[in-house]
Amino acid sequence: MKTALVCGAGGFIGGHLVKKLKAQGYWVRGVDLKRHEFAESPADEFVVGDLRDPRLVAQVIDRKFDEVYQLAADMGGAGFVFTGENDAAIMHNSALINLNVLEELRHKGVGKVFYSSSACIYPEYNQLDPSKPVTAEDSAYPAMPDSEYGWEKLFSERLYFAYHRNYGMDVRVARFHNIFGIEGTWEGGREKAPAAMCRKVAEAPEGGVIEVWGPGTQTRSFLYVDECLEAIERFMRSDYIGPLNIGSEEMISINDLARMTIEISGKNLSIRNVPGPTGVQGRNSDNTRIREKLGWAPHRPLREGMERTYAWVAEQVAKKQKAKEAIAQ
Ligand code: NAD
Ligand code: GDD
Repeated sequence: MKTALVCGAGGFIGGHLVKKLKAQGYWVRGVDLKRHEFAESPADEFVVGDLRDPRLVAQVIDRKFDEVYQLAADMGGAGFVFTGENDAAIMHNSALINLNVLEELRHKGVGKVFYSSSACIYPEYNQLDPSKPVTAEDSAYPAMPDSEYGWEKLFSERLYFAYHRNYGMDVRVARFHNIFGIEGTWEGGREKAPAAMCRKVAEAPEGGVIEVWGPGTQTRSFLYVDECLEAIERFMRSDYIGPLNIGSEEMISINDLARMTIEISGKNLSIRNVPGPTGVQGRNSDNTRIREKLGWAPHRPLREGMERTYAWVAEQVAKKQKAKEAIAQ
């Protein structure tokens, strides 16, 4: 039986990954600061602990795992990473996790280790025009990410590659481009645009208005979590160590994402653009390399994922509303 350690198992992508690995017959240990908010983890062992603490890291990496997935990070959407208010914590917390995990893996050995970097490492100067963002993997340098979150990811990517070069560690470094789906953060300030749009639309009264940050002309692409997991699996099976974009090439403006969500809901709502943290003006995944290296690339339409996500978020909104009403009675 193959063994896997999932760091960040209580989070969005980590939670989905644990389910998939268990369905494939792995023995899985999950570790996170917290248990999963929306689903009981099927992990064989789930350790609630802090990966910034090297003693906890030595405890959870107590053997040579076949596969380690390092997804733990202090992260969130534009409202968390682009305000500047969380910069020190993001850099400190996420860098410590990666430093600790890699050093322990060096001592205990590992089959393969997967690291989730981000599209946020790409230079701002290539993402100023919403219609023509550049995100080919080799465009990362000269580096100029627009956030400290992006700089930490770039540092940590380099750390994984250094452990590969100096200690022969078998690494896989992916750059995720805005992954979304069910059982992800949808409120509280760390939610990303797809979940935020779903929440705002679900909460709005018929005929109401939803607020969208920025001019709404800024572009992104969004990848549904199932295809992200498929890409991770194909990447882990390949001989390529990365860096590799894992994202969708279906670029859309944020106002169009809002319109799509409204259409899915069947409600009659309008959009008001308001000031807010926007990040880069344009971003889309360049999938040339993933096609070349894996002979495959994500291809499912955004609308399909948004329909599933809207249904799930609307359910959460309704549950919360019911709970509030019960307290008020
Ligand atoms: P998430 O926030 O849902 O999951 C990250 C998990 O890490 C959280 O459950 C959190 O509690 C845990 N964590 C944070 N600090 C920890 C610590 N000190 N010790 C133990 N656990 C800790 O985020 P996600 O969307 O599932 O993202 C997973 C990974 O992918 C992250 O590294 C993120 O930076 C990266 N990524 C995600 C996206 C995306 O769009 N979701 C895009 C680019 C990169
Ligand atoms: N979160 C959010 N909430 N974003 C909104 C909202 C809202 O209510 N309204 C408009 N937006 C806009 C943001 O201003 C931004 O321009 C765009 O939607 C996308 O925002 P997010 O989905 O929050 O983040 P991002 O794409 O800029 O960056 C995310 O993806 C990266 C990888 O591609 C973040 O999660 C990063 O941490 C991640 O690395």
